[in-house]
Amino acid sequence: MIAQPFKGTAFDLRGKTALITGSAGLLGFEHAIALLECGCAVIITDIDQAKLLETKNKLLDHFPSASIFVHVMDVTSQDSIQSVSTFIDDQKLDLHILINNAAIDPKVRTNSSSTEFSRLENFPLSQWNLQISVGLTGAFLCCKVFGTKMLKYGNGGVILNIASDLSVIAPDQRLYKQPNLPDEFQPVKPVTYSVIKSGLVGLTRYLSTYWADKGIRCNSLSPGGVYNHQPRDFVDKLVDLIPIGRMAHKSEYRSAIQFLCSDASSYMNGQNLLLDGGRSAL
Ligand SMILES: NC(=O)c1ccc[n+]([C@@H]2O[C@H](COP(=O)([O-])OP(=O)(O)OC[C@H]3O[C@@H](n4cnc5c(N)ncnc54)[C@H](O)[C@@H]3O)[C@@H](O)[C@H]2O)c1
Repeated sequence: MIAQPFKGTAFDLRGKTALITGSAGLLGFEHAIALLECGCAVIITDIDQAKLLETKNKLLDHFPSASIFVHVMDVTSQDSIQSVSTFIDDQKLDLHILINNAAIDPKVRTNSSSTEFSRLENFPLSQWNLQISVGLTGAFLCCKVFGTKMLKYGNGGVILNIASDLSVIAPDQRLYKQPNLPDEFQPVKPVTYSVIKSGLVGLTRYLSTYWADKGIRCNSLSPGGVYNHQPRDFVDKLVDLIPIGRMAHKSEYRSAIQFLCSDASSYMNGQNLLLDGGRSAL
């Protein structure tokens, strides 16, 4: 079992409840661990029910007596979000923290041999709409429903948007370049990623003034790339762009989550915290 080292400090989240979107993915699990370590109750949500239940069981292995609520939620659907809002009321939970983490991660293919759809010239409108509806519109809808809920409770709250180092720097398309492929077949980081992550920073600034007088703060966290067994060639090229000389470990954002979601960051509002090994400082 992981200890709760933050009892009685500004990081103490006992008595608070947090909702995380996209909780069944790589970082959603880590965000939940971070909050549970601070004594927070968590509502883990995702569109993928099977992975969500797996995530709950893994979390319970670490925190057998923690309050972990599970609800399938599609962030693109206001009805689905609303049903989680009703669930929160039914459970008599007082929502204090929202982490907008869900995204469709457009994996860049590394063995392209036909038309490369990630390229701007070919990028389908359907993909643009889908990815924006999850990464950006989904965050807006969750802020609308759950931010309004925090407002009604009257106890303030914290909204945290998970952006990326690509919210402030352009993708370096050389990272994705494959040998022996003509330009038109070269895969790229799609345009949607930059647009969504920059948009989340805009949403963060907007919300930081919108409900500030009601005690609701909003910040974003911009992680750099997490090592997850990506191809060696890609990792080698990426770490050359990172002053610390390596990709992040998935657990390295936990302490930032704890800081941003607790009173430890009580005077921080409207900011985009970059944790990228220094990549964006170059
Ligand atoms: N992993 C990284 O290297 C990295 C780096 C920078 C930023 N980020 C950002 O961190 C966040 C989490 O990344 P991750 O690596 O854990 O991604 P992931 O793909 O592992 O997890 C994303 C989760 O979102 C869920 N999801 C997709 N569509 C959804 C929908 N309509 N409604 C609800 N949930 C939906 C997926 O089922 C998945 O579980 C993302 O916003 C990502 O852009 C990740």
